[in-house]
Amino acid sequence: MLNVAFDNSALEDPDLHLESTITAGKPKNQHKFKDIIGQSDKMQEVFRLIEKVADSDSTVIINGETGTGKGLAARAIHWYSYRKSKPFVSINCGAIPENLLESELFGHVRGAFTGATTTRRGKFEIADGGTIFLDEIGDMSPDLQVKLLRVLEEREFEQVGGCKTIKVDVRIIAATHRNLEEEVQKGTFRQDLFYRLYVIPIKLPPLRKRKSDIPILITHFVDEIGRDKNKELDGVSDSAMKVMMQYSWPGNVRELRNMIERFVVLGEDGDELSTRNLPDKLTNFNDGNVSVAQVEISQDGICLNTAVNEFEKTLIVQSLKKTKWVKNRAAKLLHLKRTTLVEKIKRHHLQQTSSPLPSS
Ligand SMILES: Nc1ncnc2c1ncn2[C@@H]1O[C@H](COP(=O)(O)OP(=O)(O)OP(=O)(O)O)[C@@H](O)[C@H]1O
Ligand SMILES: [Mg+2]
Repeated sequence: MLNVAFDNSALEDPDLHLESTITAGKPKNQHKFKDIIGQSDKMQEVFRLIEKVADSDSTVIINGETGTGKGLAARAIHWYSYRKSKPFVSINCGAIPENLLESELFGHVRGAFTGATTTRRGKFEIADGGTIFLDEIGDMSPDLQVKLLRVLEEREFEQVGGCKTIKVDVRIIAATHRNLEEEVQKGTFRQDLFYRLYVIPIKLPPLRKRKSDIPILITHFVDEIGRDKNKELDGVSDSAMKVMMQYSWPGNVRELRNMIERFVVLGEDGDELSTRNLPDKLTNFNDGNVSVAQVEISQDGICLNTAVNEFEKTLIVQSLKKTKWVKNRAAKLLHLKRTTLVEKIKRHHLQQTSSPLPSS
C-alpha cells in the first residue's frame, strides 16, 4: 500500500496568515483568493498552501472531485508565482486522443506523420519560462507516462519525429479526479511517475464537506453572473438557502454555479431565489445520501440532540413520502415497528402535508 496522503496541513505555517499578506499581487481578502471563493477552514488551508508553494517551482498535484476548482487552483498557483508574466499552458490529457497527445505535448517535426506539413511546437515549449498544467493526468496512457517521466526528471524531450533534444524551464502542475494511489495499485498508473508528481499534493475538498462556503459562493455567483447578464436579482430566501445547504452537490461548485446561472438567466430584476426556482433534485433530496459527514461543525459548535432529531425527522418524512404515507411500508423502509414509527410521527408533529423543508 502506498503511504502518500493528500494532507493539506502538512505544510501549514501558523505564522502565515492571509490577512497579513496584503501586498502587491497577494490575496486582498480572505474569502477570495485570486478567483477562488471560500471561507471554510478547509479552503483557508488550501489558500495558505497555494500561497506557500507558489514560488517554489516544485511539482504540484491537485486532487479533487469534478467541479471542486482544480483548474482555478492551478491558475492561482501560477498567478502567485514569479512566473506570473510567462505563459500558463493548460492541456487536458483525458480529452485528446492518445495518438495526438504526444505531439500536442512535445510538438512534431515536418513529415513526422501524415498531415504533419510543418514543424510545430508542443505545449511544453510554448510554456517555456511559465507553467504547464497537465489536467486529468490519471487518464494518460502508459506509453506517454514514460515520456512524461523523463521530462519531469530532466526537463528535456524530443519532438515527435525529431532527434534534437529540447530543454525547457517549466513549472509542472498536474490534476486528477482519480485516486492515483488506487490506479497505481491497479497497475494503470506508473508508480515512478506517481512519486515524481507527488511532491506537493493539494486536495480540494468536495462542497458537501465545506457547506459554510455555500452562502458566499451563491452571493458571488448571483453578483458575477448578474453583472454579466445585466440582471439585478435580489438574494436568496431562507428556505431556498436551507435546501441548498442540505443538498450534497455531487457536481460541486460547478453544479452550484450552473444552477445560479439558470436562475439569473430565467429570472427578472428584483426576483428572489426561492425553492420554486430550485430543480426537483434539490427539493426531493434526502434520498439516503444524507450522511453525518455532510454536517460541518462551525466554530460555535452544534447541538447534537437537535441535529440528530432533525436527521431522524428528515428520514421519517422521506420514507412517508416514498410510501405515500402507508405507515406499514414506511416503517419497513426504516426497519422500525409500525408502532414506533407512529410514535415518532406524533413526537415530530408530522402530518401528511408536512415537509422538513418549508416552502418559500
Ligand atoms: N471555490 C470556487 N470559487 C469560485 N468559483 C469556483 C470555485 N470552485 C469552482 N468554481 C467554478 O466552478 C467551475 C468548475 O471549476 P474547475 O473547472 O476549476 O473545476 P475542476 O475541479 O477542474 O473540475 P473538472 O474535474 O470537472 O475539470 C468553474 O466555473 C469555476 O470557476
Ligand atoms: Mg478541470
